Amino acid sequence: MSEPKKLFIKTYGCQMNVYDSERMAEALGGKGYIQVQTPDDADMILMNTCHIREKAAEKVYSELGRFKKLKEAKPDLKIGVAGCVAQAEGEEIMARQPMVDLVVGPQSYHRLPAMEEAVQQGKKAVDTDFPEEDKFDTLNKRPRATRGPTAFLTVQEGCDKFCAFCVVPYTRGAEVSRPKERILREAADLVEAGVREITLLGQNVNAYHGHEKGLAGLIWELDKIDGLERIRFTTSHPNDMDDALIEAHGTCDKLMPYLHLPVQSGSDKILKAMNRKHTRDDYFRLIDRIRDARPDLLLSGDFIVGFPGETDQDFEDTMGLVRRVGYGQAYSFKYSTRPGTPAAEKAQLPDEVMNERLQALQALLTEQQVATQNSMVGKEVSVLFEKAGRQEGQMIGKSEYLHAVHATAPAEVKGTIRRVRILESRTNSLHGELI
Ligand code: SAH
Ligand code: SF4
Ligand code: F3S
Repeated sequence: MSEPKKLFIKTYGCQMNVYDSERMAEALGGKGYIQVQTPDDADMILMNTCHIREKAAEKVYSELGRFKKLKEAKPDLKIGVAGCVAQAEGEEIMARQPMVDLVVGPQSYHRLPAMEEAVQQGKKAVDTDFPEEDKFDTLNKRPRATRGPTAFLTVQEGCDKFCAFCVVPYTRGAEVSRPKERILREAADLVEAGVREITLLGQNVNAYHGHEKGLAGLIWELDKIDGLERIRFTTSHPNDMDDALIEAHGTCDKLMPYLHLPVQSGSDKILKAMNRKHTRDDYFRLIDRIRDARPDLLLSGDFIVGFPGETDQDFEDTMGLVRRVGYGQAYSFKYSTRPGTPAAEKAQLPDEVMNERLQALQALLTEQQVATQNSMVGKEVSVLFEKAGRQEGQMIGKSEYLHAVHATAPAEVKGTIRRVRILESRTNSLHGELI
């Protein structure tokens, strides 16, 4: 048998890319590749890229510059660009960096094996179509054995919302839901391979229409799988939180009390300019209903500061919204102009203003995160242990609220859910003892 070829994948961006990278590794596994952890002696390097903000996209070209040196030393090395930059910039990537052999958009990963063959014959391969066929359908089944206790499972892709700042509708295409039968089969396989917690993924995961009762319907089907103990989903859009999904947060024991529900801004004027199609009050009402269903639910969100036209008052409205809602943790970003989006036409705010606002918002969000973590001290939580900690005898897992929890525990706790009493809150983690 011939030596396996070595594949190095570097993943940027969101969890959908993490999931896709795994699937690409499997697809190329069928072509004799094994995945390696460093690029140094790889036979193929794939970059799975993100286009969401300018910085993310720029990173691709600086990293390609570094891989170029590897290729100079080893001319057989093949270099591919996948993901959202591949979709957005296509053949331009090869024009800017001619040593790239392959460019593949997120909807064409099932065509990778054929593209790999072409590249081996010295050809260049580019595929950024939005094909009719399901990209997941023809990808190999996941191998067993090597699974940890948690896994991502993509159920929905693409976005029809067209927020004025965002590239995702262009890089990932229209909203498409995978049929529930395939998802349930994949979930059952994962559980058989040792997975205890599944996070359902989608750019707008709660716009899932592959089940007649939407995402809640799918969650209730997953709830029936023995051995699956926890279900999460991300990222959801406020306008797609339907009654059944809100109710499930109160009634489905396997659905964890954590919800990432981005609002972006607290100003009605800016929400309108962003084309979010909901108001600040709509969001408050929604949060109240979700908390009625599940009072201990921990909320997370995304915010953009410095959207074109944002005044001091608009920004204050965002700060006010954050104070009123109270987040367990959240992400915040400076607005970044993206080519081709409607907001790119508008006048930009000065960088100093954006920096100042970002700092103020992040200080407030950190304060809330620390307060939330501190409030866990003395409480009991359920922890799904995932791996050994750096300290001897320590194991690390996640609580139902998605907090990282460290505890002294035997290695056997890996893959099991144990009750833990929280003793201490540190930066980004909680420390406790097994009960
Ligand atoms: N589908 C999800 C998330 C998409 S991207 C949603 O609708 O919430 C993740 C986050 O990146 C967004 O929530 C937004 O806060 C941020 N983002 C997207 N485009 C951006 C841009 N042009 N500049 C800065 N942040 C952006
Ligand atoms: Fe982007 Fe808006 Fe779609 Fe989220 S809902 S992916 S922010 S366009
Ligand atoms: Fe980035 Fe594409 Fe995800 S732009 S955030 S990798 S959908």
